[in-house]
Parts: sequence; C-alpha cells; structure tokens
Amino acid sequence: MPKFQPFLKRRMPKFAINFCVANVSSDLGLKSSHSSLLTSWSQPLNVGSLTLQSRVFQSPLSGVTDLVFRRLVRSYAPQSMLYTEMVSATELHHLRHLPQVMEIDPDETPISIQLFDCRPDFMAEAAQKAVAQGAQTVDINMGCPVNKITKKGGGSSLLRQPEIAMAIVSTVAAAVDVPVTVKTRLGWDDQEIQIVEFAQRLQDAGAQMLTLHARTRAQGYNGAARWDWIGQVKQALSIPVIANGDIFSVEAAITCLEQTGADGVMCSRGSLGYPFLVGEIEHYLRTGEKRPVPTIAERLTCAQDHLQALWDYKGQRGLYQARKHLTWYCKDFPGAATLREQLSRVESVAAGHALLAQAINANLSSPDIDPGLMVGKY
Ligand SMILES: Cc1cc2nc3c(=O)[nH]c(=O)nc-3n(C[C@H](O)[C@H](O)[C@H](O)COP(=O)(O)O)c2cc1C
Repeated sequence: MPKFQPFLKRRMPKFAINFCVANVSSDLGLKSSHSSLLTSWSQPLNVGSLTLQSRVFQSPLSGVTDLVFRRLVRSYAPQSMLYTEMVSATELHHLRHLPQVMEIDPDETPISIQLFDCRPDFMAEAAQKAVAQGAQTVDINMGCPVNKITKKGGGSSLLRQPEIAMAIVSTVAAAVDVPVTVKTRLGWDDQEIQIVEFAQRLQDAGAQMLTLHARTRAQGYNGAARWDWIGQVKQALSIPVIANGDIFSVEAAITCLEQTGADGVMCSRGSLGYPFLVGEIEHYLRTGEKRPVPTIAERLTCAQDHLQALWDYKGQRGLYQARKHLTWYCKDFPGAATLREQLSRVESVAAGHALLAQAINANLSSPDIDPGLMVGKY
C-alpha cells in the first residue's frame, strides 16, 4: 500500500468540552410529546455489518472536513460518523502517494472516506485503498453539482447515468468488505426527479445506506431542502436513509426526523464556524435535553483552536485555509462584520490570535446566540 509522504507531525490541541447540560425541553416542546420517537433515535443504527452508536452525521465538505475540522467536531460528538473530503478515484489511481485528504487519525472512529468518479474499476481500487487507510464505510458521491466533476461523469451526473451508477456500487461492494454507502440528490432538475426508483436500484446494487440531500443538482444549495422526498425514499427502502439539507439546529433536526421518518440526520453548512452542532443534536436525541449554546467567547476560543491546529497541521497553506473558517465563526455579535473582514485577510497566526482575543474580551458579557437564528447565513 502507498503511504503518505512524510509531513511534520505537529502538536494538535485537544479541544475541550466545557458544556453543562440544561433541561430546556420546554423550549423545544418535544420531550413529553415525542419521547417514544426520541427513544428510537437514540438506538444504535446498523449499516450493513457496522453498528453506529449515533444517528447524527457530519457530511463530507470539500475544503472543510479535513483532519483538523473532524477533530473539532468529534470532540463534541465522539460517536458520530464523520467523512473525509471527497477523493477522486482517477487521481488516486495515478498518484504514487495517498493525498493528505485521506489521512485519518489512527484511533479515529467511526470514519468514512468519500470517493467520486465514473469508472467502476478505479472506484473499486480506490475503495480498497480507503479501507486499508481505516475507512469503516466507503461513501460514493452521486450528488456533487460542480461542473468540473459532472462534466467528467462524476457526482450528480450519475443521476442521469443509472447504469453506470449501479455498476459502480456493485463493483465497489464486491471489492471491499466494509459497507458501501451513497450520498445523492433528488435528481438533476425538477423535470428529472426519479429518486425513489434510483434509490431502490442503488439498494439492489448493494448500497447499505443512502444519504439524501433533498435538493436537485439544478438547485445547488439554494431554496429550501424538500424533505418530503426523503420521506418517500425512506418508505421505499429497507436500508437506512439519512436526511440531509437545511439541518441548521437541533429543532430542524427533530422536525426533519419527524417529517421524514429518516433513520438519522446529516449536518453540513450548519457546522461551518459552528462545530458544536452535530454534538448538540446527538446529545438531544440521546437525552431529550438541550446543551446550552456556547457563548460568543467560547465560539471565538474555538476559532483560535481551529486556526492554531490548521497552522500546526498544514503550515502556511493552513493559514490561508483558516481565513474562511475564521470568518464563519464571526456572526451575530457586536463587531462581527469588522472582525470578519479583518480575519479574511489575516497574514499571520499571531495576528489572528490577537484579533480573536480582542473580540473575546469585548464580548465576554454578551448574551448567547441560539444557532437556530443563524439559519441560512452561509
Ligand atoms: C463547501 C461545501 C463543500 C461540500 N463538499 C461536499 C463533498 O465533498 N461531498 C459531498 O457529498 N457533499 C458535499 N457538499 C454538500 C453537503 O455535504 C450537503 O449535502 C449540502 O450542503 C446540503 O446540506 P445543508 O443544506 O445542510 O448545507 C458540500 C457543500 C458545501 C457547502
């Protein structure tokens, strides 16, 4: 097996969990009326041969869900399934070394590596490398709307090539002994929504779990996610169906689960600048109690940890990548817009720390913001 090119293994901070639990079920109005539903969502979820202790997932996000981001999310949601950024099977075929996006911590679990491509043979080869790397499931991307990917036959273009999509799933499933899962969308556009039949065929081809982003390719990330389709797909399948799209808060997750009957939820943009979200939903499903939202100072301290960890892991490239993350942390507090602008062009880690420290001191006594209020801010 190819191994990573050596890179400097630097100090990675442990991210502290410093929440206490408060019973605010009355805020949600859920605990009494939905206790039986909460009971079922707190049960483990079987995905083929794998048993997951949590039904809350963090989606693959290209340019975001690297090792550093996953460590942050996992510090608040230790049992949730997390995903790498998507990896091109063709690129992997030609590379002599595994790319850094495939690096996972030795003790990182549960973890999935997401692959994309249109060639079943390359996908099978890539899946074997992913499993050798420690992936506990291999996820196949059939939802990416980006032209660069779809023009080459990958991502959401597979919705229009069902024969190839099924061949990928069956070939990959035959090549590895871990569950093969698929993440897809409703269809290419409103004129081409055949997701129920497509999902059934994926299941027949050997997919062991389906995540449905309830938008079409044409929608991109715009408009509301159409959760009603998730309910229809759930009715038609026997494998687990995970709901994705517009899960920005605990309340949204519960509403989505109730409306769709899905087996779990997957957070995406809601975690940008807010790596607490998966853990908050997971905690609520398990206990019926809501964690207090982090204070602004706690959020900005988390941003400092994120910045430092990216620098430690990737050096100068990490600093450039940190800029977008830092701006995502700056929302809904006095001075957020100015800070966001300054952090978007920050030139050094020390300068980033100083700006964040200043904002932390200025906001020590500011009230907390409910993340539900931040819906659609990205
Ligand atoms: C910056 C960004 C990168 C993404 N990268 C991936 C990816 O690599 N693989 C994938 O399956 N989906 C990817 N997605 C889609 C998300 O996983 C998710 O399906 C989508 O954002 C819908 O959920 P949301 O409305 O809660 O954000 C990406 C989305 C964004 C915004």
